[in-house]
Amino acid sequence: MFHHPRSTPANPANDPSARFFGSIGIAPGARVLDVGCGIGDLSRYVAALAGPDGEVVAIDRSDEALAAARASEADPRAAPIRYRAVDLSGDLPVLGRFDAIVGRRVLMYLPDVAATLARLAAMAASGGIVAFQEHARADLPAAPGDLPLHRRLYDWNWRTVAAEGGDVTLGFRLAEMMQRLDLDIAEARAEAILLHADQPSFVPILAQAMLPRIVARGVATVAQVEPDTLAQRIADEQRAAGGAIVWDLAFLVAARAASIQRG
Ligand SMILES: C[S@@+](CC[C@H](N)C(=O)[O-])C[C@H]1O[C@@H](n2cnc3c(N)ncnc32)[C@H](O)[C@@H]1O
Repeated sequence: MFHHPRSTPANPANDPSARFFGSIGIAPGARVLDVGCGIGDLSRYVAALAGPDGEVVAIDRSDEALAAARASEADPRAAPIRYRAVDLSGDLPVLGRFDAIVGRRVLMYLPDVAATLARLAAMAASGGIVAFQEHARADLPAAPGDLPLHRRLYDWNWRTVAAEGGDVTLGFRLAEMMQRLDLDIAEARAEAILLHADQPSFVPILAQAMLPRIVARGVATVAQVEPDTLAQRIADEQRAAGGAIVWDLAFLVAARAASIQRG
């Protein structure tokens, strides 16, 4: 999704994003807030939707991620993107009103999602869009065959996110949480993230990225993960799975802020 010049497999968890964020109603000229923008993948996508007359404000607490995001070349056909360092767990700076507030895999890492979401929803313009793609721990992965290694890795990943203070059930509760903020739910669904038997797996890349965090939280040791042989063992298990592996669930929730009647 969103085109990266790379030979390694893209994160399949991003597959639903273009369809979802492309369909929530971001119009040319829109002012959009991307929450927890990371290296700006989603920011660039919504900037293209908002066009040159729009504006994107993209916020994240990681200076390193923001530096990488800023290093991407600006697209003259897209909205300009203003990246800002903001920690979502505290008070938010005054950023003005937004026609759309979006984010992908960010609320699930916050200690108090409801409070942050309330602060964000207050920044939506009348009738503005609030849309998030979040994930959650489920009874996965699943396939026709057994997946002991994939299931172990899944368990380690989610236990690490939980140990870091993340909200590993958020995907299941997000629509309800938005409704409680008087947002009108326009769409709330989950999409399965599949690992196809004939495609190189993203799981070894994810495991490598997660390894330092898994070890730091004491969830598993390097000896248990066996990183040197992991990619091969994952590929073997994927080949024997008997079909696609359901690896993850992407929860896609879009809502509208109440329209203020004037006149
Ligand atoms: C999994 S990444 C997702 C990045 C981006 N949304 C994407 O989908 O490509 C999570 C991002 O949330 C950011 N983040 C986590 N907690 C945060 C906080 N309290 N305040 C601001 N950003 C935060 C991290 O720095 C990271 O860039």
